[in-house]
Amino acid sequence: MQGNTMIKLESVTKVYELGRGATVIAAKDVSLEIGAGEFVAIVGRSGSGKTTVLNLAAGLTRPTAGRVTLDGIDLWRLTDKEQSRLRNQKIGFVFQFPSLLPTLTVLENVILPTTFGPRESRAAARARAADLLERIGLSDKINVYPRQLSAGQQQRVVIARSLINKPELLLADEPTSNLDEKTEMEIVGLFRELHATLGVTVVLVTHTRQLVSAGMRAIEMAEGRVAAPQLAIGGVPENGSRPVEYAKNGLSATVAGQSELSY
Ligand SMILES: Nc1ncnc2c1ncn2[C@@H]1O[C@H](COP(=O)(O)OP(=O)(O)OP(=O)(O)O)[C@@H](O)[C@H]1O
Ligand SMILES: [Mg+2]
Repeated sequence: MQGNTMIKLESVTKVYELGRGATVIAAKDVSLEIGAGEFVAIVGRSGSGKTTVLNLAAGLTRPTAGRVTLDGIDLWRLTDKEQSRLRNQKIGFVFQFPSLLPTLTVLENVILPTTFGPRESRAAARARAADLLERIGLSDKINVYPRQLSAGQQQRVVIARSLINKPELLLADEPTSNLDEKTEMEIVGLFRELHATLGVTVVLVTHTRQLVSAGMRAIEMAEGRVAAPQLAIGGVPENGSRPVEYAKNGLSATVAGQSELSY
């Protein structure tokens, strides 16, 4: 539902112990909110903490300090079982490299996650999978095997698979990084279309600024911190910081605290 907060990180820090007393601070005092129904990009250099933030939001990484809530639920107050049930119900994941099972057809790969969810007829799951594959333009590839698809097509199948359990939240970690520029743009276009038509909240991690287009909020990570731009939910200014513009690349965003929003 629009207006609710889907993801909330409150002063979250993640420290990895590397042994012999060495540590890495992968996320440092990160506070952010992502509203239900939003399409948000997480940008930043390699090693800046983007994947860490995504994993924290999904409850895949336990914070060293701070609080993570998903749709109002404090993730680390749940048991392991409750947490994975919540994840399975609410979140679809798309990772950097297509991860389809080679011995299953496209359709079988897409319906695979339904076998872990609540009981439903196989026919219903197949019908939903066929519908998703049609939406993403692969209805003619339903019965082929992943090796018979291009990398971009495989990634589209992964996107269909991530949506099969009707998640409210789609988390995508650099889903286009091994694709050529044109295919990359097509995949991002597909995310935008799915966001618009299904109303799913999308958080897309990307290295590529050009991918972030107008109307999309971007959260920039730098050295484990939320650097800029971080627009307050609802566009309410919080402080007097200056806007960060990527207008040249099609992204225009504003640091919290700027009353003029350039979307
Ligand atoms: N499991 C881990 N153990 C130790 N250090 C880790 C672990 N995961 C991440 N880090 C460190 O935390 C920092 C942030 O990593 P993260 O993977 O979040 O970066 P990223 O922004 O996603 O980078 P990339 O764009 O290269 O994927 C890095 O310095 C990384 O080396
Ligand atoms: Mg990463």
